Amino acid sequence: MLEKALWISPRGDAGDGAVCFRRRFQGAPGEKATLTVSCLGVYDAYLNGRRVGDFILAPGCTEYEKRLQAQTYDVSDMIQAENELIVTVGKGWHRSRMIAKREGLYHAPCALIARLDMDGQMIVTDEAWEAGPSNVIFSDIWDGETCDATLPETVYGSVRTVDWPRDILISQEGPFVKEQERLSPRSVFVTPRGETVIDFGQEITGYVEIMLSAKKGDRVVLSCGEMLDRDGNFYNENYRKALSRMTYVCRDGKQTWKPRFTFYGFRYIRVDEWPGEASPDCFQAVALYSDMERTGFLRTANEKLNRLIENTLWSQRGNFVDIPTDCPQRDERMGWTGDAQVFCKAACYHYNAKQFFEKWMGDLRADQRADGSIPDTVPNFWLIQRSSAAWGDVMTVLPWRVYLMYGDKKILEQNFEAMKGWVDYITGDTLEKNLWIGPDDSSIMWQKHYGDWLALDAAEGSYHGATPNDLIASAFYAHSANLLVKAGKALGRDMAEYEALHERIRAAFLQRYPAAAMTTQTALVLALVFDLTDDKPGAAARLNRMIRENGNRLKTGFVGTPHLLYALSENGYADTAYDLLLQEAYPSWLYEVNHGATTIWEHWDGMKEDGSFWSTDMNSFNHYAYGAVADWLYSAAGGIRPDEEAPGFARAVIAPIPSPRIQSLEAEYKSVHGTIRSKWTNTRDGVRYEIATPVPAEIIIDGKRHSVTPGSYIFYSEAAKG
Ligand code: BGC
Repeated sequence: MLEKALWISPRGDAGDGAVCFRRRFQGAPGEKATLTVSCLGVYDAYLNGRRVGDFILAPGCTEYEKRLQAQTYDVSDMIQAENELIVTVGKGWHRSRMIAKREGLYHAPCALIARLDMDGQMIVTDEAWEAGPSNVIFSDIWDGETCDATLPETVYGSVRTVDWPRDILISQEGPFVKEQERLSPRSVFVTPRGETVIDFGQEITGYVEIMLSAKKGDRVVLSCGEMLDRDGNFYNENYRKALSRMTYVCRDGKQTWKPRFTFYGFRYIRVDEWPGEASPDCFQAVALYSDMERTGFLRTANEKLNRLIENTLWSQRGNFVDIPTDCPQRDERMGWTGDAQVFCKAACYHYNAKQFFEKWMGDLRADQRADGSIPDTVPNFWLIQRSSAAWGDVMTVLPWRVYLMYGDKKILEQNFEAMKGWVDYITGDTLEKNLWIGPDDSSIMWQKHYGDWLALDAAEGSYHGATPNDLIASAFYAHSANLLVKAGKALGRDMAEYEALHERIRAAFLQRYPAAAMTTQTALVLALVFDLTDDKPGAAARLNRMIRENGNRLKTGFVGTPHLLYALSENGYADTAYDLLLQEAYPSWLYEVNHGATTIWEHWDGMKEDGSFWSTDMNSFNHYAYGAVADWLYSAAGGIRPDEEAPGFARAVIAPIPSPRIQSLEAEYKSVHGTIRSKWTNTRDGVRYEIATPVPAEIIIDGKRHSVTPGSYIFYSEAAKG
């Protein structure tokens, strides 16, 4: 693509600043025209002073060495007789500090490639273009942006062509990242330490737009934070090495400014420098995220639960900025595969995430190594060599989930070989056949597997929960082999070999890890949900007892938590599942809500009961992993599930699980075949269900099955127990 266009660069070193590329040309007003652009960095394009398209941070984030998206915009209504096209290129992810280990990318030149196709002419990037410095003198994904509005107009000079591969260019695959919600400050206040702080009342990912009157040279400096400390002071030590600052040097008069080439994760802004008094109407927070259709809605009669649901949504928004990230604020913002693996199910209910994930699966495949292993972050900006269980398994879990939710076989076709590659990798990586064993590295901090990351049964000072890595890895080996078999069968392939493999793994697991000998919540959860025990009632009873004896509290981390409520509710302990869901004491989802959370925390004890913080070295307050609980609310509490035999909700299973502890709960999912609704209400006479389905469905109420045609239905059952 972009035939005939050349990569162009300014003659001097662009440093940390953004560079303007300019091309003037003549045209005929109204003529048909399309502009296709990509760059090494991120760009925005203006044609005759008007912004082209609304993609922020274009061309997006991909495994740049192999895949670089280009966007095509229809600019027909923008062409005049005399035209000026200016494309400004900032460092973006491509040349940002976060990618410094990928030296080849990090040290890439600031470069643009573009092509304008009009009725009678074609303009491509070449030596006829000019380039010069913009007033964005610094931009970096982690560190923020500095704009000096006092600088004179750009002085343009000649460009050079650079030799950069063109075969990496692909058409836009994902949804555009766009400006979404705008939030006004909830308050502006002075902390005990004397800092002026703005509270937007909601943690978001994006930036702040400022509006002010100033004198030339006045400075604005804003710092980002997620939390106030227990004394009410601004706190952002948990951002670690990410400076996350917005700096603006004013010109004379009234002006508006916002960063253009980076993003921030924040709820609070500390006003470090500001001319005069900072009043609330000078600030607006702008949320940025990939543009997806909202498809899921959950409403309950419990306000705290509603806030939790809202938090899972905001954590999705804040971490779906072109790639699924762990967090949007500190010096990471990486496509951690494990986090996406656990949250993808919830994500596909809340929003139509098909296109978003299809694009990222392209990066997963691009990053898959020859031996089938998947790096723990994708794109692999940190050159991570490890391939952890439950992280790399995103390669089987995600395609299967996206297929189930949207019913598009193409997803499986595109990813089948990669899914197989992952399972084969495990087969070749173990010290013991039919399990995933080794290496024995439990004494070191950075083990091959992350285990039940951040679980509360971890030894003091460790991130790894108490569930043995080998057990988790072997359970996921079984799970991935099983999903591969299902995918293959859906594609009509002969999967006998992998079916036999799955059976062997299961048998080996059962022998090595009998549920009766399991000592952690997560081990039992995996045995139950991955069908790795012949004694489900016994395993479930044990799990239930562990939770009850722990005061109705969980101990699970990244691996166990997403499946915990299912392991209970699918095995006769829905009441315990609800007790965990509605638990307010530490550790619990509602503990976070009670402590003012507006997004999902990375740690159950991100903020401790006394208001102090968990260590600064790993303490994000916007990490969606535990937000996976939202999928249980849709698919178990509300009961809206895809039918594996008719994926994409061509048929539905609707099996709500009411609880006497919540007056009512309503789940709604806009599937590709129409909107499914499931509501239950506790009444004096029992539970009343209102269900609407646009597709044939199997409705299961109180264990009784009803096969129904599309329509609206009311059911009653006896009072919910628990
Ligand atoms: C990230 C996680 C990630 C983990 C791997 C962390 O630094 O923030 O969410 O999955 O590393 O262990």
